[in-house]
Amino acid sequence: MFSKEIREKYLQFFKGKRHAIIPSSPLLPENDPTVLFTTAGMHPLVPYLLGETHAQGNRLANAQKCVRTGDIDEVGDNTHLTFFEMMGNWSLGDYFKKEAIEWSFEFLTGKKWLNIPIEKLAVSVFSGDDDAPKDDESAGLWKSLGIPEHKIAYLPKKNNWWGPAGQTGPCGPDTEMFYWVGKSDLPPQKSDPGNDEKNWVEIWNDVFMEYNKTEEGKYEPLIQKNVDTGMGLERVTAVLQDAKSVYETELFQPIIEKIEALAAIKYQENTTSYRIIADHLRAATFMAGDGVKPSNVDQGYVMRRLMRRAIRHGKNIEIEQDFTAIIAKKIIHMMSEIYPELNHEEEILKTFHDEEEQFRKTLNHGLKEVEKLLIGFQIALEKTGKKITEISGKQAFRLYDTYGFPLEMTLEEAQKNGLTVDEKGFKKAFAEHQDLSRMGAEQKFAGGLQDHSEATTRLHTATHLLHAALRKVLGDHVAQKGSNITAERLRFDFSHPDKMTQEQIKEVEQFVNDAIAADVKVECETSTVDEAKKKRAIGLFEGKYGEKVKVYTIPGWSKEICGGPHVEHTGELGHFRIKKEESSSAGIRRIKAILG
Ligand code: ALA
Repeated sequence: MFSKEIREKYLQFFKGKRHAIIPSSPLLPENDPTVLFTTAGMHPLVPYLLGETHAQGNRLANAQKCVRTGDIDEVGDNTHLTFFEMMGNWSLGDYFKKEAIEWSFEFLTGKKWLNIPIEKLAVSVFSGDDDAPKDDESAGLWKSLGIPEHKIAYLPKKNNWWGPAGQTGPCGPDTEMFYWVGKSDLPPQKSDPGNDEKNWVEIWNDVFMEYNKTEEGKYEPLIQKNVDTGMGLERVTAVLQDAKSVYETELFQPIIEKIEALAAIKYQENTTSYRIIADHLRAATFMAGDGVKPSNVDQGYVMRRLMRRAIRHGKNIEIEQDFTAIIAKKIIHMMSEIYPELNHEEEILKTFHDEEEQFRKTLNHGLKEVEKLLIGFQIALEKTGKKITEISGKQAFRLYDTYGFPLEMTLEEAQKNGLTVDEKGFKKAFAEHQDLSRMGAEQKFAGGLQDHSEATTRLHTATHLLHAALRKVLGDHVAQKGSNITAERLRFDFSHPDKMTQEQIKEVEQFVNDAIAADVKVECETSTVDEAKKKRAIGLFEGKYGEKVKVYTIPGWSKEICGGPHVEHTGELGHFRIKKEESSSAGIRRIKAILG
Protein backbone atom coordinates (compact mmCIF):
# COMPACT_ATOMS: atom_id res chain seq x y z
CA MET A 1 0.00 0.00 0.00
CA PHE A 2 1.40 3.41 -0.95
CA SER A 3 1.71 6.23 1.58
CA LYS A 4 -0.80 8.35 -0.30
CA GLU A 5 -3.44 5.66 0.13
CA ILE A 6 -2.60 5.21 3.82
CA ARG A 7 -2.96 8.95 4.45
CA GLU A 8 -6.25 9.09 2.56
CA LYS A 9 -7.67 6.02 4.24
CA TYR A 10 -6.81 7.37 7.68
CA LEU A 11 -8.62 10.63 7.11
CA GLN A 12 -11.54 8.90 5.40
CA PHE A 13 -11.86 6.47 8.31
CA PHE A 14 -12.03 9.20 10.94
CA LYS A 15 -14.30 11.33 8.83
CA GLY A 16 -16.61 8.34 8.92
CA LYS A 17 -16.42 8.51 12.72
CA ARG A 18 -17.61 12.13 12.57
CA HIS A 19 -14.20 13.79 12.94
CA ALA A 20 -13.55 17.16 11.30
CA ILE A 21 -10.46 16.93 9.12
CA ILE A 22 -8.28 19.91 9.95
CA PRO A 23 -5.32 21.04 7.85
CA SER A 24 -1.77 20.56 9.01
CA SER A 25 -0.60 23.54 11.04
CA PRO A 26 2.60 25.22 9.86
CA LEU A 27 5.91 23.82 11.08
CA LEU A 28 6.51 27.06 12.96
CA PRO A 29 4.35 27.24 16.06
CA GLU A 30 2.62 30.58 16.27
CA ASN A 31 2.86 32.55 19.47
CA ASP A 32 4.81 29.83 21.18
CA PRO A 33 8.10 31.14 22.48
CA THR A 34 9.42 27.90 23.89
CA VAL A 35 9.75 25.68 20.83
CA LEU A 36 11.11 26.19 17.35
CA PHE A 37 9.01 23.65 15.50
CA THR A 38 5.77 21.74 15.74
CA THR A 39 6.80 18.37 17.16
CA ALA A 40 3.50 16.48 17.25
CA GLY A 41 -0.06 16.80 16.01
CA MET A 42 -1.24 17.69 19.52
CA HIS A 43 1.12 20.63 19.68
CA PRO A 44 -1.09 23.22 17.99
CA LEU A 45 -4.06 21.80 19.91
CA VAL A 46 -2.80 22.37 23.45
CA PRO A 47 -5.23 25.20 24.29
CA TYR A 48 -8.12 22.95 23.26
CA LEU A 49 -6.82 19.97 25.23
CA LEU A 50 -6.82 22.34 28.20
CA GLY A 51 -10.47 23.18 27.67
CA GLU A 52 -10.86 25.96 25.10
CA THR A 53 -13.52 25.20 22.52
CA HIS A 54 -12.29 24.42 19.04
CA ALA A 55 -14.19 25.97 16.16
CA GLN A 56 -14.34 22.65 14.31
CA GLY A 57 -15.85 20.70 17.16
CA ASN A 58 -14.54 18.14 19.62
CA ARG A 59 -13.50 15.38 17.21
CA LEU A 60 -10.58 16.24 14.99
CA ALA A 61 -8.16 14.39 12.72
CA ASN A 62 -5.35 15.34 10.38
CA ALA A 63 -1.93 14.59 8.97
CA GLN A 64 0.50 17.00 10.60
CA LYS A 65 3.96 18.03 9.46
CA CYS A 66 6.41 17.60 12.32
CA VAL A 67 10.07 18.34 12.93
CA ARG A 68 12.01 16.70 15.75
CA THR A 69 15.67 17.51 15.77
CA GLY A 70 16.41 15.91 19.14
CA ASP A 71 18.05 12.89 17.56
CA ILE A 72 19.49 14.49 14.46
CA ASP A 73 22.65 12.41 14.98
CA GLU A 74 20.68 9.18 14.67
CA VAL A 75 19.47 10.06 11.18
CA GLY A 76 20.92 7.58 8.73
CA ASP A 77 19.74 4.43 10.51
CA ASN A 78 16.52 2.63 9.54
CA THR A 79 13.97 4.68 11.42
CA HIS A 80 15.08 8.16 12.51
CA LEU A 81 13.93 11.23 10.62
CA THR A 82 14.02 14.94 11.43
CA PHE A 83 10.91 15.66 9.35
CA PHE A 84 7.93 13.34 9.32
CA GLU A 85 4.19 13.28 8.91
CA MET A 86 2.07 12.25 11.83
CA MET A 87 -1.51 11.16 11.35
CA GLY A 88 -3.65 11.75 14.41
CA ASN A 89 -7.16 11.83 15.77
CA TRP A 90 -8.32 13.79 18.79
CA SER A 91 -11.16 13.78 21.21
CA LEU A 92 -11.43 17.08 23.06
CA GLY A 93 -13.39 15.91 26.09
CA ASP A 94 -15.61 13.72 23.90
CA TYR A 95 -14.91 9.97 23.45
CA PHE A 96 -12.31 8.22 25.56
CA LYS A 97 -10.60 4.83 25.83
CA LYS A 98 -13.30 2.55 24.45
CA GLU A 99 -13.86 4.33 21.16
CA ALA A 100 -10.22 5.26 20.70
CA ILE A 101 -9.03 1.65 21.07
CA GLU A 102 -11.88 0.12 19.10
CA TRP A 103 -11.33 2.51 16.22
CA SER A 104 -7.56 2.00 16.25
CA PHE A 105 -8.17 -1.74 16.07
CA GLU A 106 -10.75 -1.39 13.30
CA PHE A 107 -8.45 0.82 11.21
CA LEU A 108 -5.45 -1.48 11.65
CA THR A 109 -7.19 -4.78 10.97
CA GLY A 110 -10.28 -3.88 8.91
CA LYS A 111 -10.30 -5.35 5.37
CA LYS A 112 -11.27 -1.97 3.96
CA TRP A 113 -8.49 -0.25 5.88
CA LEU A 114 -4.93 -1.44 6.62
CA ASN A 115 -5.93 -5.11 6.75
CA ILE A 116 -3.11 -6.11 9.12
CA PRO A 117 -3.45 -9.72 10.38
CA ILE A 118 -4.21 -9.60 14.08
CA GLU A 119 -1.43 -12.18 14.69
CA LYS A 120 1.15 -9.56 13.64
CA LEU A 121 0.01 -7.07 16.27
CA ALA A 122 0.88 -6.60 19.93
CA VAL A 123 0.17 -3.73 22.32
CA SER A 124 1.50 -2.14 25.46
CA VAL A 125 -0.42 -0.43 28.26
CA PHE A 126 0.58 1.61 31.30
CA SER A 127 1.60 -0.52 34.29
CA GLY A 128 0.67 2.11 36.90
CA ASP A 129 2.59 4.10 39.51
CA ASP A 130 2.02 6.71 42.23
CA ASP A 131 0.75 9.25 39.71
CA ALA A 132 -1.81 7.13 37.89
CA PRO A 133 -3.26 3.62 38.21
CA LYS A 134 -2.52 0.57 36.07
CA ASP A 135 -4.52 0.78 32.87
CA ASP A 136 -6.59 -2.38 33.20
CA GLU A 137 -9.40 -0.77 31.24
CA SER A 138 -7.29 -0.49 28.07
CA ALA A 139 -5.95 -4.02 28.50
CA GLY A 140 -9.52 -5.29 28.89
CA LEU A 141 -10.60 -3.48 25.74
CA TRP A 142 -7.75 -5.00 23.73
CA LYS A 143 -8.65 -8.46 24.99
CA SER A 144 -12.30 -7.98 24.08
CA LEU A 145 -11.12 -7.26 20.53
CA GLY A 146 -9.09 -10.46 20.30
CA ILE A 147 -5.56 -9.42 21.36
CA PRO A 148 -4.43 -12.25 23.67
CA GLU A 149 -3.05 -11.49 27.13
CA HIS A 150 0.43 -12.68 26.12
CA LYS A 151 0.56 -9.97 23.45
CA ILE A 152 -0.07 -7.20 25.96
CA ALA A 153 3.00 -5.69 27.64
CA TYR A 154 2.49 -3.71 30.86
CA LEU A 155 5.16 -1.01 30.91
CA PRO A 156 6.05 1.96 33.15
CA LYS A 157 5.96 5.70 32.57
CA LYS A 158 9.24 5.61 30.65
CA ASN A 159 7.47 3.66 27.88
CA ASN A 160 3.75 4.20 28.23
CA TRP A 161 3.18 7.81 29.12
CA TRP A 162 3.14 10.70 26.68
CA GLY A 163 3.65 14.36 27.36
CA PRO A 164 3.75 17.00 28.40
CA ALA A 165 5.66 18.16 25.37
CA GLY A 166 7.39 20.75 27.57
CA GLN A 167 7.79 21.04 31.32
CA THR A 168 4.11 21.45 32.03
CA GLY A 169 0.83 20.73 30.28
CA PRO A 170 -1.51 17.98 29.17
CA CYS A 171 -0.27 14.40 29.35
CA GLY A 172 -1.37 10.92 30.30
CA PRO A 173 -0.90 7.18 30.04
CA ASP A 174 -0.89 5.72 26.58
CA THR A 175 -1.41 2.44 24.82
CA GLU A 176 0.87 1.69 21.91
CA MET A 177 0.39 -0.64 18.97
CA PHE A 178 3.26 -2.65 17.51
CA TYR A 179 3.83 -4.54 14.28
CA TRP A 180 5.92 -7.73 14.08
CA VAL A 181 9.08 -7.27 11.98
CA GLY A 182 11.00 -10.33 13.21
CA LYS A 183 12.57 -12.89 10.87
CA SER A 184 9.75 -15.44 11.20
CA ASP A 185 6.48 -14.70 9.46
CA LEU A 186 4.59 -14.67 12.77
CA PRO A 187 5.85 -13.82 16.27
CA PRO A 188 6.51 -16.61 18.77
CA GLN A 189 3.97 -16.88 21.63
CA LYS A 190 6.26 -15.46 24.28
CA SER A 191 7.33 -12.37 22.36
CA ASP A 192 5.90 -8.97 23.22
CA PRO A 193 7.11 -5.33 22.87
CA GLY A 194 8.34 -5.42 26.47
CA ASN A 195 10.68 -8.42 26.16
CA ASP A 196 11.53 -8.44 22.45
CA GLU A 197 11.86 -4.75 21.67
CA LYS A 198 13.79 -4.87 18.42
CA ASN A 199 11.36 -7.19 16.63
CA TRP A 200 8.33 -5.02 17.31
CA VAL A 201 7.98 -1.61 15.68
CA GLU A 202 5.65 0.90 17.28
CA ILE A 203 3.18 2.13 14.70
CA TRP A 204 0.53 3.99 16.67
CA ASN A 205 0.12 5.64 20.01
CA ASP A 206 -3.20 6.39 21.71
CA VAL A 207 -2.64 8.84 24.54
CA PHE A 208 -5.32 9.30 27.17
CA MET A 209 -4.69 12.88 28.11
CA GLU A 210 -6.49 13.30 31.37
CA TYR A 211 -3.70 14.88 33.43
CA ASN A 212 -2.02 18.24 33.58
CA LYS A 213 1.56 18.25 34.81
CA THR A 214 2.10 21.29 37.02
CA GLU A 215 5.27 23.27 37.60
CA GLU A 216 5.73 21.42 40.88
CA GLY A 217 5.76 18.14 38.95
CA LYS A 218 2.31 17.06 40.14
CA TYR A 219 -0.22 15.33 37.89
CA GLU A 220 -3.62 16.94 38.32
CA PRO A 221 -6.78 15.77 36.55
CA LEU A 222 -7.65 17.96 33.57
CA ILE A 223 -11.13 19.41 33.39
CA GLN A 224 -11.81 17.11 30.45
CA LYS A 225 -10.63 13.69 29.33
CA ASN A 226 -8.97 13.87 25.93
CA VAL A 227 -7.61 11.43 23.41
CA ASP A 228 -4.49 12.29 21.39
CA THR A 229 -3.21 9.73 18.92
CA GLY A 230 -0.25 9.69 16.60
CA MET A 231 0.73 7.35 13.79
CA GLY A 232 3.97 8.01 11.91
CA LEU A 233 3.19 7.84 8.22
CA GLU A 234 6.71 6.94 7.05
CA ARG A 235 7.01 4.09 9.52
CA VAL A 236 3.60 2.59 8.80
CA THR A 237 4.32 2.81 5.10
CA ALA A 238 7.62 0.97 5.61
CA VAL A 239 6.17 -1.89 7.66
CA LEU A 240 3.18 -2.36 5.37
CA GLN A 241 5.52 -2.54 2.40
CA ASP A 242 7.86 -4.93 4.19
CA ALA A 243 10.60 -2.40 3.49
CA LYS A 244 13.92 -2.57 5.30
CA SER A 245 13.73 1.10 6.28
CA VAL A 246 11.64 4.21 5.72
CA TYR A 247 14.12 5.14 2.97
CA GLU A 248 13.17 2.06 0.97
CA THR A 249 9.61 3.33 0.43
CA GLU A 250 8.23 5.53 -2.33
CA LEU A 251 8.38 8.45 0.12
CA PHE A 252 12.18 8.45 -0.26
CA GLN A 253 13.22 6.26 -3.19
CA PRO A 254 12.71 8.94 -5.86
CA ILE A 255 14.85 11.30 -3.76
CA ILE A 256 17.56 8.66 -3.35
CA GLU A 257 17.51 7.98 -7.10
CA LYS A 258 17.86 11.66 -7.86
CA ILE A 259 20.88 11.88 -5.55
CA GLU A 260 22.34 8.73 -7.09
CA ALA A 261 22.19 10.34 -10.54
CA LEU A 262 24.50 13.11 -9.28
CA ALA A 263 26.93 11.08 -7.18
CA ALA A 264 29.93 8.90 -8.05
CA ILE A 265 29.29 6.61 -5.07
CA LYS A 266 26.11 4.52 -5.08
CA TYR A 267 23.42 4.29 -2.39
CA GLN A 268 24.37 0.75 -1.37
CA GLU A 269 27.99 1.82 -0.83
CA ASN A 270 27.12 4.61 1.62
CA THR A 271 23.51 4.42 2.77
CA THR A 272 24.18 6.73 5.72
CA SER A 273 25.25 9.76 3.69
CA TYR A 274 22.39 9.23 1.23
CA ARG A 275 19.85 8.99 4.02
CA ILE A 276 21.18 12.07 5.79
CA ILE A 277 21.01 14.07 2.56
CA ALA A 278 17.48 12.86 1.76
CA ASP A 279 16.13 13.44 5.26
CA HIS A 280 17.82 16.79 5.89
CA LEU A 281 16.91 18.30 2.54
CA ARG A 282 13.32 17.10 2.92
CA ALA A 283 13.13 18.85 6.30
CA ALA A 284 14.81 21.99 4.92
CA THR A 285 12.42 22.05 1.93
CA PHE A 286 9.39 21.97 4.21
CA MET A 287 10.94 24.65 6.43
CA ALA A 288 11.45 26.84 3.37
CA GLY A 289 7.84 26.10 2.39
CA ASP A 290 6.79 27.65 5.69
CA GLY A 291 8.97 30.70 5.12
CA VAL A 292 12.16 29.84 7.03
CA LYS A 293 15.41 31.21 5.61
CA PRO A 294 18.83 29.90 6.68
CA SER A 295 20.35 32.17 9.34
CA ASN A 296 22.28 32.04 12.58
CA VAL A 297 19.36 32.05 14.96
CA ASP A 298 16.33 29.99 15.84
CA GLN A 299 14.60 28.10 13.03
CA GLY A 300 16.97 29.57 10.46
CA TYR A 301 19.91 28.15 12.38
CA VAL A 302 18.40 24.66 12.37
CA MET A 303 17.70 24.91 8.67
CA ARG A 304 21.25 26.06 7.97
CA ARG A 305 22.65 23.26 10.06
CA LEU A 306 20.58 20.65 8.18
CA MET A 307 21.49 22.02 4.77
CA ARG A 308 25.18 22.31 5.51
CA ARG A 309 25.32 18.83 6.96
CA ALA A 310 23.63 17.54 3.78
CA ILE A 311 26.17 19.40 1.62
CA ARG A 312 29.05 17.90 3.57
CA HIS A 313 27.62 14.42 3.09
CA GLY A 314 27.32 15.23 -0.60
CA LYS A 315 31.09 15.38 -0.60
CA ASN A 316 31.27 11.89 0.93
CA ILE A 317 29.41 10.42 -2.01
CA GLU A 318 31.36 12.56 -4.47
CA ILE A 319 28.74 14.90 -5.81
CA GLU A 320 30.76 17.41 -7.80
CA GLN A 321 28.15 20.13 -8.35
CA ASP A 322 25.64 22.28 -6.49
CA PHE A 323 22.85 19.85 -5.79
CA THR A 324 20.58 20.92 -2.95
CA ALA A 325 18.18 22.86 -5.19
CA ILE A 326 17.94 19.90 -7.58
CA ILE A 327 16.92 17.63 -4.72
CA ALA A 328 14.57 20.24 -3.26
CA LYS A 329 12.86 20.51 -6.64
CA LYS A 330 12.25 16.76 -6.66
CA ILE A 331 10.83 16.91 -3.13
CA ILE A 332 8.53 19.80 -4.06
CA HIS A 333 7.21 17.83 -7.04
CA MET A 334 6.60 14.79 -4.87
CA MET A 335 4.84 16.55 -2.01
CA SER A 336 3.23 19.79 -3.18
CA GLU A 337 -0.07 18.19 -4.11
CA ILE A 338 -0.62 17.40 -0.44
CA TYR A 339 1.24 20.41 0.96
CA PRO A 340 0.46 23.35 -1.35
CA GLU A 341 2.65 25.66 0.74
CA LEU A 342 5.54 24.10 -1.22
CA ASN A 343 4.19 25.64 -4.38
CA HIS A 344 6.39 28.75 -4.39
CA GLU A 345 9.10 26.66 -6.01
CA GLU A 346 11.18 29.47 -7.44
CA GLU A 347 11.62 31.17 -4.08
CA ILE A 348 12.45 27.90 -2.29
CA LEU A 349 15.01 26.90 -4.90
CA LYS A 350 16.63 30.32 -4.76
CA THR A 351 16.98 29.96 -0.99
CA PHE A 352 18.72 26.62 -1.52
CA HIS A 353 20.98 28.01 -4.27
CA ASP A 354 22.02 30.99 -2.20
CA GLU A 355 22.75 28.97 0.92
CA GLU A 356 24.79 26.38 -0.95
CA GLU A 357 26.76 29.07 -2.73
CA GLN A 358 27.44 30.87 0.51
CA PHE A 359 28.51 27.68 2.22
CA ARG A 360 30.92 26.84 -0.58
CA LYS A 361 32.44 30.30 -0.24
CA THR A 362 32.73 29.70 3.49
CA LEU A 363 34.46 26.40 2.87
CA ASN A 364 36.92 27.93 0.42
CA HIS A 365 37.64 30.77 2.79
CA GLY A 366 38.17 28.26 5.60
CA LEU A 367 40.53 26.20 3.47
CA LYS A 368 42.64 29.31 2.89
CA GLU A 369 42.79 29.86 6.64
CA VAL A 370 43.89 26.27 7.17
CA GLU A 371 46.63 26.85 4.61
CA LYS A 372 47.81 29.91 6.54
CA LEU A 373 47.86 27.83 9.69
CA LEU A 374 50.00 25.19 8.01
CA ILE A 375 52.42 27.84 6.75
CA GLY A 376 52.64 29.07 10.35
CA PHE A 377 53.50 25.54 11.48
CA GLN A 378 56.22 25.39 8.83
CA ILE A 379 57.71 28.72 9.92
CA ALA A 380 57.68 27.58 13.53
CA LEU A 381 59.53 24.42 12.54
CA GLU A 382 62.19 26.43 10.71
CA LYS A 383 62.60 28.85 13.59
CA THR A 384 62.52 26.50 16.54
CA GLY A 385 63.29 23.13 15.00
CA LYS A 386 60.16 21.81 16.72
CA LYS A 387 57.50 20.08 14.62
CA ILE A 388 53.91 20.91 15.51
CA THR A 389 51.75 17.84 15.00
CA GLU A 390 48.39 19.02 16.27
CA ILE A 391 45.88 21.74 15.43
CA SER A 392 44.88 23.04 18.83
CA GLY A 393 41.30 23.19 20.09
CA LYS A 394 41.42 26.99 20.04
CA GLN A 395 42.66 27.07 16.44
CA ALA A 396 39.99 24.61 15.31
CA PHE A 397 37.37 26.63 17.15
CA ARG A 398 38.52 29.88 15.55
CA LEU A 399 38.13 28.26 12.12
CA TYR A 400 34.65 27.23 13.09
CA ASP A 401 33.53 30.33 14.89
CA THR A 402 35.10 33.06 12.78
CA TYR A 403 35.01 31.38 9.36
CA GLY A 404 32.13 28.93 9.78
CA PHE A 405 34.51 26.09 8.86
CA PRO A 406 33.05 22.83 10.27
CA LEU A 407 35.15 20.70 12.62
CA GLU A 408 34.72 17.70 10.30
CA MET A 409 36.49 19.65 7.56
CA THR A 410 39.31 20.66 9.88
CA LEU A 411 39.74 16.99 10.80
CA GLU A 412 39.85 16.05 7.14
CA GLU A 413 42.44 18.69 6.26
CA ALA A 414 44.52 17.75 9.29
CA GLN A 415 44.51 14.11 8.28
CA LYS A 416 45.59 14.98 4.74
CA ASN A 417 48.59 16.82 6.21
CA GLY A 418 49.54 14.18 8.75
CA LEU A 419 48.26 16.21 11.70
CA THR A 420 45.78 15.57 14.49
CA VAL A 421 43.19 17.94 15.99
CA ASP A 422 42.60 18.47 19.70
CA GLU A 423 38.90 17.67 19.58
CA LYS A 424 38.49 17.86 23.34
CA GLY A 425 39.97 21.34 23.32
CA PHE A 426 37.59 22.28 20.50
CA LYS A 427 34.60 21.13 22.52
CA LYS A 428 35.81 23.07 25.53
CA ALA A 429 36.25 26.25 23.49
CA PHE A 430 32.87 25.64 21.90
CA ALA A 431 31.16 25.30 25.27
CA GLU A 432 32.84 28.47 26.51
CA HIS A 433 31.93 30.58 23.54
CA GLN A 434 28.64 29.12 22.52
CA ASP A 435 26.53 32.13 21.79
CA LEU A 436 23.28 32.43 23.61
CA SER A 437 20.93 32.42 20.71
CA ARG A 438 22.40 29.19 19.43
CA MET A 439 22.23 27.66 22.82
CA GLY A 440 18.65 28.80 22.98
CA ALA A 441 18.04 27.07 19.68
CA GLU A 442 19.66 23.86 20.90
CA GLN A 443 17.54 23.85 24.00
CA LYS A 444 14.44 24.42 22.04
CA PHE A 445 15.33 21.39 19.87
CA ALA A 446 14.34 19.16 22.70
CA GLY A 447 10.78 20.41 22.61
CA GLY A 448 8.89 22.17 25.32
CA LEU A 449 5.55 23.77 25.16
CA GLN A 450 4.25 27.19 25.74
CA ASP A 451 2.35 27.87 28.84
CA HIS A 452 -0.30 30.37 27.95
CA SER A 453 1.00 32.67 30.59
CA GLU A 454 -0.66 35.98 31.24
CA ALA A 455 2.22 37.86 29.69
CA THR A 456 2.02 36.04 26.35
CA THR A 457 -1.76 36.30 26.30
CA ARG A 458 -1.57 40.07 26.78
CA LEU A 459 1.01 40.40 24.03
CA HIS A 460 -1.15 38.26 21.80
CA THR A 461 -4.05 40.68 22.12
CA ALA A 462 -1.64 43.59 21.65
CA THR A 463 -0.53 41.97 18.39
CA HIS A 464 -4.11 42.15 17.07
CA LEU A 465 -4.29 45.83 17.94
CA LEU A 466 -0.91 46.47 16.34
CA HIS A 467 -1.99 44.69 13.16
CA ALA A 468 -5.15 46.83 12.99
CA ALA A 469 -3.15 49.99 13.74
CA LEU A 470 -0.64 49.30 10.97
CA ARG A 471 -3.43 48.84 8.44
CA LYS A 472 -5.02 52.08 9.60
CA VAL A 473 -1.82 54.12 9.54
CA LEU A 474 0.03 52.55 6.59
CA GLY A 475 -2.80 51.14 4.49
CA ASP A 476 -4.66 47.93 3.64
CA HIS A 477 -1.65 46.40 1.91
CA VAL A 478 -0.30 45.53 5.34
CA ALA A 479 -0.64 41.82 5.95
CA GLN A 480 0.79 39.61 8.67
CA LYS A 481 3.85 37.69 7.52
CA GLY A 482 4.91 36.24 10.82
CA SER A 483 4.38 36.54 14.53
CA ASN A 484 6.37 35.37 17.51
CA ILE A 485 5.70 36.09 21.12
CA THR A 486 7.83 35.55 24.19
CA ALA A 487 6.90 36.49 27.72
CA GLU A 488 8.89 39.73 27.26
CA ARG A 489 7.95 41.04 23.82
CA LEU A 490 5.99 40.57 20.65
CA ARG A 491 7.54 40.39 17.22
CA PHE A 492 5.43 41.07 14.18
CA ASP A 493 6.43 40.82 10.51
CA PHE A 494 4.26 42.49 7.92
CA SER A 495 4.26 43.49 4.28
CA HIS A 496 5.19 47.12 3.70
CA PRO A 497 7.72 48.48 1.23
CA ASP A 498 9.30 51.34 3.21
CA LYS A 499 10.87 52.09 6.53
CA MET A 500 8.25 53.57 8.85
CA THR A 501 8.71 57.21 9.79
CA GLN A 502 8.87 58.34 13.42
CA GLU A 503 5.42 59.90 13.04
CA GLN A 504 3.95 56.69 11.73
CA ILE A 505 5.43 54.76 14.65
CA LYS A 506 3.98 57.30 17.09
CA GLU A 507 0.57 57.09 15.40
CA VAL A 508 0.55 53.30 15.61
CA GLU A 509 1.51 53.40 19.29
CA GLN A 510 -1.21 55.97 19.89
CA PHE A 511 -3.85 53.81 18.19
CA VAL A 512 -2.98 50.81 20.34
CA ASN A 513 -2.80 52.83 23.55
CA ASP A 514 -6.14 54.48 22.78
CA ALA A 515 -7.67 51.02 22.38
CA ILE A 516 -6.18 50.03 25.73
CA ALA A 517 -7.46 53.23 27.39
CA ALA A 518 -10.96 52.52 26.03
CA ASP A 519 -10.89 49.24 28.00
CA VAL A 520 -13.16 47.37 25.59
CA LYS A 521 -14.31 43.81 26.04
CA VAL A 522 -12.69 41.28 23.72
CA GLU A 523 -15.35 39.16 22.02
CA CYS A 524 -15.02 35.77 20.40
CA GLU A 525 -17.39 33.99 18.03
CA THR A 526 -17.21 30.95 15.80
CA SER A 527 -18.08 31.38 12.15
CA THR A 528 -17.28 30.03 8.71
CA VAL A 529 -14.39 31.49 6.75
CA ASP A 530 -16.86 33.05 4.31
CA GLU A 531 -18.84 34.77 7.03
CA ALA A 532 -15.63 36.00 8.61
CA LYS A 533 -14.50 37.42 5.28
CA LYS A 534 -17.84 39.13 4.78
CA LYS A 535 -17.52 40.75 8.15
CA ARG A 536 -14.12 42.01 7.02
CA ALA A 537 -12.16 40.05 9.58
CA ILE A 538 -8.46 40.05 8.83
CA GLY A 539 -6.09 37.15 9.35
CA LEU A 540 -4.66 34.27 7.44
CA PHE A 541 -7.51 32.69 5.51
CA GLU A 542 -5.85 30.28 3.16
CA GLY A 543 -4.64 26.74 3.66
CA LYS A 544 -4.44 26.95 7.38
CA TYR A 545 -7.87 26.89 8.76
CA GLY A 546 -10.64 24.42 8.29
CA GLU A 547 -14.15 25.50 7.52
CA LYS A 548 -15.04 26.94 10.88
CA VAL A 549 -12.88 29.53 12.52
CA LYS A 550 -12.80 31.66 15.63
CA VAL A 551 -13.05 35.39 15.14
CA TYR A 552 -11.82 37.68 17.89
CA THR A 553 -13.32 41.14 17.87
CA ILE A 554 -12.20 44.18 19.80
CA PRO A 555 -15.26 46.23 18.89
CA GLY A 556 -14.36 49.44 17.16
CA TRP A 557 -10.70 48.49 16.90
CA SER A 558 -9.96 45.07 15.46
CA LYS A 559 -11.54 41.92 14.01
CA GLU A 560 -9.27 39.02 13.33
CA ILE A 561 -9.35 35.29 12.74
CA CYS A 562 -7.30 33.55 15.38
CA GLY A 563 -7.20 30.53 17.66
CA GLY A 564 -6.71 32.60 20.84
CA PRO A 565 -6.25 32.90 23.75
CA HIS A 566 -6.79 36.61 24.47
CA VAL A 567 -7.37 38.86 27.44
CA GLU A 568 -10.95 39.72 28.38
CA HIS A 569 -10.57 43.51 28.36
CA THR A 570 -8.04 45.65 26.55
CA GLY A 571 -7.44 47.60 29.78
CA GLU A 572 -5.42 44.62 31.01
CA LEU A 573 -2.65 45.40 28.54
CA GLY A 574 -0.99 48.36 30.28
CA HIS A 575 1.13 50.61 28.04
CA PHE A 576 2.20 49.65 24.52
CA ARG A 577 5.58 50.69 23.15
CA ILE A 578 7.39 49.91 19.88
CA LYS A 579 11.04 49.16 20.61
CA LYS A 580 12.25 48.58 17.12
CA GLU A 581 11.14 48.86 13.50
CA GLU A 582 13.45 47.26 10.98
CA SER A 583 13.64 45.40 7.72
CA SER A 584 13.02 41.65 7.93
CA SER A 585 13.47 40.76 4.26
CA ALA A 586 12.58 42.31 0.91
CA GLY A 587 9.23 44.08 1.28
CA ILE A 588 8.74 42.83 4.83
CA ARG A 589 9.16 45.00 7.93
CA ARG A 590 9.55 43.78 11.49
CA ILE A 591 8.34 45.38 14.68
CA LYS A 592 9.36 44.44 18.19
CA ALA A 593 7.15 45.85 20.89
CA ILE A 594 6.54 45.52 24.60
CA LEU A 595 3.82 46.17 27.14
CA GLY A 596 4.96 48.17 30.14
N1 ALA B 1 1.35 12.89 20.85
C1 ALA B 1 1.55 11.49 20.74
C2 ALA B 1 2.85 11.14 20.06
O1 ALA B 1 3.48 12.02 19.52
C3 ALA B 1 0.41 10.84 20.07
O2 ALA B 1 3.23 10.00 20.06
